[in-house]
Amino acid sequence: MRTREPAVLDLDFSQDPHRLVASLRAEAPVRRVVLPRGLRAWLVTGYDDARAMLADPRLSKDSGRIGELFEQHGGRPAGYTDSLAEHMLNMDPPDHTRLRKLVNKAFTPRAVARLRPRVEEITGRLLDRIAEAGSVDLLGTFAFPLPITVISELLGVPEGDQDAFQKWSNVMVSVAPPEQARQASAAMADFLTRLVAVKRAEPGEDLLSDLVHATDDGESLSEVELVSMAFLLLVAGHETTVNLIGNGVLALLRDPAQLAALRGDPGLISGAVEEFLRYDGPVNLATLRFTTEPVEVGGTTVPAGEFVMVSLLAANRDAARFDEPEVLDITRPAGGHVAFGHGIHYCVGAPLARLEAEVAIGTLIRRFPDLRLDGEPAGLRWRASTLMHGLETLPVRVD
Ligand code: HEM
Repeated sequence: MRTREPAVLDLDFSQDPHRLVASLRAEAPVRRVVLPRGLRAWLVTGYDDARAMLADPRLSKDSGRIGELFEQHGGRPAGYTDSLAEHMLNMDPPDHTRLRKLVNKAFTPRAVARLRPRVEEITGRLLDRIAEAGSVDLLGTFAFPLPITVISELLGVPEGDQDAFQKWSNVMVSVAPPEQARQASAAMADFLTRLVAVKRAEPGEDLLSDLVHATDDGESLSEVELVSMAFLLLVAGHETTVNLIGNGVLALLRDPAQLAALRGDPGLISGAVEEFLRYDGPVNLATLRFTTEPVEVGGTTVPAGEFVMVSLLAANRDAARFDEPEVLDITRPAGGHVAFGHGIHYCVGAPLARLEAEVAIGTLIRRFPDLRLDGEPAGLRWRASTLMHGLETLPVRVD
């Protein structure tokens, strides 16, 4: 096999990831890359290869080993404190299985359906404010506050703490300077440790209190696993959904025929949300994995002890799997996309994300028939992150 030079992904990658990953996929669906902070990894951009890698038990997410491999591969510490890192997205079975079981039932479609009235209420209240303002950043006023309020209420985070939390979280998922990332994660760890102590002293009707109970009752999870779990759920629970709402609304505003079709038949909303997930999903590169032995994929052998990243955006626009992948079509047969990942780490919050996006986008376009972009699409900026794919702001007018 011919060895290619690694493709270098710089920070501009965030501004137009689809174009770049499409060209990488056309060249080689599995290839070496250098990420913005210098980390060397293999990037998978083909649909079949992406699914194969995400489900392959020879790929590990063990955070201890990832830490060791980091320096070897040119990476710099991400700034995460150890007290936040012991969560299931950083673990292999059997620990992954044990931790995931503890929260699975809180996020089943049935459990999540009970949240619908509350999601509708929060949505209505936020849209009232937009109606008054007339011209707003839709992310700051709507797409961020909705999921963060829902996941905070579910876990039992007091309303007054949500702003600070959101700020730290934001720094942690972006490509921030290392010192800033370290400070944010230390503040986050401190906040969550105190919150766990509060739940232990005064349990409430919330998921975090249930998890504290599970910790105290037996061997189910340790204190550091508890704090890490709270961290994972809170961050994963809102940093992604904001982009599903933002990217979905942008896709509709840029395609008036699709917007009109959805307005004409609100019953299309759940298929539309699946299409937003496929067409311009919230997550670009799935989290880091490494090979525990050589793994052959798409005709390429990735040696043992190498990092592997999977571009979910690229897989979801692979013409080998989807007809006319560059076209937004809300009536496309749903399913098959990998926006929520694949395999044992498949997103536990997918039912909640779908519910929030359906309510948010469905209600927004119904309530504001004249919703439109405030400015040119070319002026929109994307957040500097290789993990998340979302806008910095989405200025709209509704008057
Ligand atoms: C895992 C996407 C919303 C909680 C994942 C993964 C993806 C993903 C791609 C797998 C990452 C990997 O394998 O490297 C999304 C998207 C969302 C969303 C696109 C919104 C549109 C949520 C919500 C929650 C959540 C609302 C709230 C609970 C989690 C958790 C994991 C996860 C806990 C780790 C699961 C495990 O390791 O077994 N998500 N997510 N996500 N997501 Fe989501």
